[in-house]
Amino acid sequence: MVSVIFPAAGQGKRMQAGINKVLLTLAGEPILVRTLKTFAAVEEVGELIVVVAADEVATVETQLRKVRGLKPLQVVAGGSERQYSIYNGLQKVAQDADVVLVHDAARPMVTAKTIQAVIDTARTKGGAIAAVPAKNTIKVVDADGLVVDTPPRSTLWEVQTPQGFRKEILLEANEAAIADDFLGTDDASLVERIGVPVAVVQSDYRNIKVTTPEDLLIAEAFLKCTAEDEARSLQAAAAEAREAWLKEAKS
Ligand code: CTP
Ligand code: MG
Repeated sequence: MVSVIFPAAGQGKRMQAGINKVLLTLAGEPILVRTLKTFAAVEEVGELIVVVAADEVATVETQLRKVRGLKPLQVVAGGSERQYSIYNGLQKVAQDADVVLVHDAARPMVTAKTIQAVIDTARTKGGAIAAVPAKNTIKVVDADGLVVDTPPRSTLWEVQTPQGFRKEILLEANEAAIADDFLGTDDASLVERIGVPVAVVQSDYRNIKVTTPEDLLIAEAFLKCTAEDEARSLQAAAAEAREAWLKEAKS
């Protein structure tokens, strides 16, 4: 069984909306709800653990209880840093979970295909992260603003979530980070430092983290075109069925 932890305990400062950005509506549905629904639709996913700020637990829980079609759900209080929020969520993971995924609640465009690939790779390899090849040339720059290095772009990947791990590995990595006072910018960095290899699963460029106001426009555009793609393939299927029917009627 797979447990998923959704860090959603940030303040959304860069969004400047005055509320937690994952509660903002995107094409008629809160970002958090959209994200949860995509995970709930994956068969192996057995529980959803949503981590929000302590003063939001009650309202978010009330809101999510009204949503149909989700999986067993817990809403728990997070910490002052994303890593601490995840650690709080980890304490609530079910005994029988073998794989734990961490997914930013603020990434509502994730696909079932990426989720499944991360689950499968985490199970076989121990750790797996969704990522896309870097599009831009990235420079290493020192404190004086001088370029120190230009790593070859073919070796650079932009990391997203979900990030998935066998449960014991993620627990051990988090305990080690606490013991060493290490604060990482993603979950995999904690796992890397205890010497466990982490595999990259190629995701897609639509899996953005909604961070600033323009990301809302971008996400809405993606959603619209996903809906259009879907409508087009339904139309194509209907046309095919009609052709088959005509052929049969003639014979
Ligand atoms: N997050 C969390 N606990 C924190 C900080 C962040 O659970 N202490 C979550 C956010 O809610 C978000 C994800 O981690 O879903 C990625 O963080 P980010 O995009 O930085 O979101 P915010 O911290 O909310 O935004 P900002 O940094 O602009 O304030
Ligand atoms: Mg933040």
